[in-house]
Amino acid sequence: MNILVTGGAGFIGSNFLNLYVSRYGEHKFINLDKLTYAANPLNLNDIEGLPNYQFARADLTDYNQVDAVFSKYNPDLVFHFAAESHVDRSILGPAAFIQSNIIGTFNLLEACRKHWPKDNDAQGSAKTKAHTSSTSPTDDSADCGYQNPHGKLFIHVSTDEVYGSLGLEGLFTETTPYNPSSPYSASKAASDHLVNAYYRTYGLPAVITNCSNNYGPYQFPEKLIPLMIINALKEEVLPVYGKGENVRDWLFVEDHCPALWAVAEKGSPGQTYNIGGNCERRNIDIVNKICENLACELNKNQNNYTKLITFVPDRPGHDLRYAIDASKIKEQLGWQPAESFESGLKKTIRWYLDNQEWVENVLSGIYKDWIETNYGKRG
Ligand code: NAD
Ligand code: TYD
Repeated sequence: MNILVTGGAGFIGSNFLNLYVSRYGEHKFINLDKLTYAANPLNLNDIEGLPNYQFARADLTDYNQVDAVFSKYNPDLVFHFAAESHVDRSILGPAAFIQSNIIGTFNLLEACRKHWPKDNDAQGSAKTKAHTSSTSPTDDSADCGYQNPHGKLFIHVSTDEVYGSLGLEGLFTETTPYNPSSPYSASKAASDHLVNAYYRTYGLPAVITNCSNNYGPYQFPEKLIPLMIINALKEEVLPVYGKGENVRDWLFVEDHCPALWAVAEKGSPGQTYNIGGNCERRNIDIVNKICENLACELNKNQNNYTKLITFVPDRPGHDLRYAIDASKIKEQLGWQPAESFESGLKKTIRWYLDNQEWVENVLSGIYKDWIETNYGKRG
């Protein structure tokens, strides 16, 4: 199988490629990435050079570039991670979000529509074949990794933020109405609608996953958890928006990746799957926990870090609470997270402590020079 991964040099995409390229040597993985500020090809050092891994620098907002990648690699599966992903940046400058997240997804869907066989009817044959990827020991192909019951499949990686904000009670299910608050979540909602429309109108075999906040190795330090770890280590301010009472439902990235693989193996086209870690936490509790863990790891007084906590003006349109009901993917596809928040956070903090060079490269911008030297000017 040829597996196209868009945004594979970003946080979740690189974790995904690091997990699966070496594990599934029988499949070719193509990483299509524009290499924006959020990308870091150094994340992929471990797989660079493997015979079943290819990098294709391309901008999803340019249809011709996307079409060229499809002509060259003829992908069977598409894992669509690429997006502008940071809410605060979307508030400061929404234009890039509209381009990459909406137009970019549209171009990718158009390329699938052009290059994938028209008789691959998602609403007919593929649907009835869903869940037939037997893992029975009598099935010879059962342990080769991927069964691909659909022939082709577009896996659209989206967010729970499309549902808007919850109050203090309740959970997002796959039928919660869309009600996005930020330009980021609105652009992701628009891309989800396009994916659904291509399934319903053209029978394009596609699934949507809406996941909660990810954390783990290789996350760019503009998001809450890596920002707090790195600022604390530098003894800089830990900026908590508002009163720190907003709640997110945290998912360890290495739990997210197997969920996506399960969707590719066993998910039904036309379906949405919510993916969550069942780890609701208030922001202020997360920041305090990071301070506690760092103090413990580095044998310091916790107050060295907690004294850095600074309450700053709230984010405009800041959603109060996200929380995912992940029972559908658990019951239908057999996935559930392995990490608790405590164990995942410990691993994450350990990773940032053990990878100071990676952190320095990101903070100093050295990785950007490296990209320009190796891949040419950034778009
Ligand atoms: P990221 O910002 O770390 O990485 C995004 C990647 O996409 C980068 O490598 C970037 O270069 C690439 N990209 C951006 N625009 C592009 C374009 N026009 N053409 C080609 N490549 C482009 O993002 P992430 O945190 O890894 O998120 C991956 C996906 O998961 C996104 O679609 C995001 O909406 C979704 N998601 C993320 C989270 C999270 O907590 N990180 C939660 C829910 C959903
Ligand atoms: P973030 O990591 O940006 O993810 P998202 O906005 O997609 O949920 O933020 C997670 C939560 O942390 C969110 O409620 C905003 C808050 N936050 C802060 O309080 N301070 C910060 O410096 C950042 C980046 C986020």
